[in-house]
Amino acid sequence: MKYRCIECGKEYDLKEVRYRCDCLGLLEVVDEWKVDINKLRQRPFGVWRYRELLPVTSNRIITLNEGGTHLHECKSLAKEIGIRKLWVKNEGENPTGSFKDRGMTVGITKALEYGFDRVGCASTGNTAASMSAYAAKAGIDAIVLLPAKKIAFGKLAQTMIYGAKIIAIRDNFDQAMDFIWRVTKQHRIYLLNSINPFRLEGQKTLGFEIMDQLDFSSPDRIILPIGNAGNISALWKAMRELRELDLIDQIPRLMGIQAEGASPIVDMIQGKSKFKPVAKPETIASAIRIGNPVNWPKAIRAIRDSKGSVAKVSDREILRAQKTLAQREGIFVEPASAASIAGLKKLLRDGKIGKDEEVVCVTTGNGLKDPDMVVEELKRNIIEIEPDFDKLEKIIG
Ligand code: F0G
Repeated sequence: MKYRCIECGKEYDLKEVRYRCDCLGLLEVVDEWKVDINKLRQRPFGVWRYRELLPVTSNRIITLNEGGTHLHECKSLAKEIGIRKLWVKNEGENPTGSFKDRGMTVGITKALEYGFDRVGCASTGNTAASMSAYAAKAGIDAIVLLPAKKIAFGKLAQTMIYGAKIIAIRDNFDQAMDFIWRVTKQHRIYLLNSINPFRLEGQKTLGFEIMDQLDFSSPDRIILPIGNAGNISALWKAMRELRELDLIDQIPRLMGIQAEGASPIVDMIQGKSKFKPVAKPETIASAIRIGNPVNWPKAIRAIRDSKGSVAKVSDREILRAQKTLAQREGIFVEPASAASIAGLKKLLRDGKIGKDEEVVCVTTGNGLKDPDMVVEELKRNIIEIEPDFDKLEKIIG
């Protein structure tokens, strides 16, 4: 097992704490994974079912029983938007309500293996909530840099109650990311943003689970939102490894969705141009309000290799998709997560996805984390009355 640079191929021993190559390329963990999948499938469903495919040597695993989220077949929504088969992999069902927990169980376990007693991240909210919970479980300190006043209420509450040291920077996520990078270089604090290759190793289990739930028969596509671009990179790595293990024949096309005001990766692919960060990212989907995603080279590789594609969606499309998913399927997700459904609708409309395809949309975070927009928009539907039973019956009709 080694770190390998995705740019120059240089390898490093995992004994070393590293986030980038000397050439500044991104690192990934490589191994010749070997497993007996039937043995693995007898274990409980969740991240640690796939332990042999994760780079963990320690026996002290920090877990909150993450993963094992449901793959919901969404017949009503599929009918409404005009696609043959649609599943939603609802990552909001994780312990802290987002997919980040898959990466954090591995990331915090590695932090202890390396002997750290402090971990740090910059975050749009979910990474902060997740890292703080796992740090609490492990009994170590969490340091979180947030863009001031730009974090959804629920995520802030989670991070506070888990006892993290929170520093709010009066700027955006990209600035907070730059600062945490500098801080963790100079101090003994383990960096747990998705530039950390072990975070992405944990997040691979999203892909393992989807395929496990579909009995290793690949859907045509998997659609997911892109922020710092870690999750799409992890999902692709999972698919590559499953193919190397001969467990799947074909890698599904990976489709990355960004919000219109924060879409550097979509602009790069659609404009066939060089990567150019967005200086002032804006979208109501605060989780993916990121202008300079650190993992963009991995995301580009994931999309190209899987013959996937990208799309950007407006805030209005995101909010409409959020409501439709809730009202057709009973699944309440946060705005960033609804970007995957909005993206599917758009790609269908533009003829980039066929009506006869089988699609999995990943919804990355629970709607209760960020209810402000929903309440603001829908509170006019509440009918408030005096305690008058006749009036009540009249309204009910
Ligand atoms: N969806 C949600 C709900 C997220 O919180 C994030 C990222 C993404 C999608 C995008 O995932 O970064 O792997 O491409 N949130 C990070 C955070 C940036 O700080 O919580 P990605």
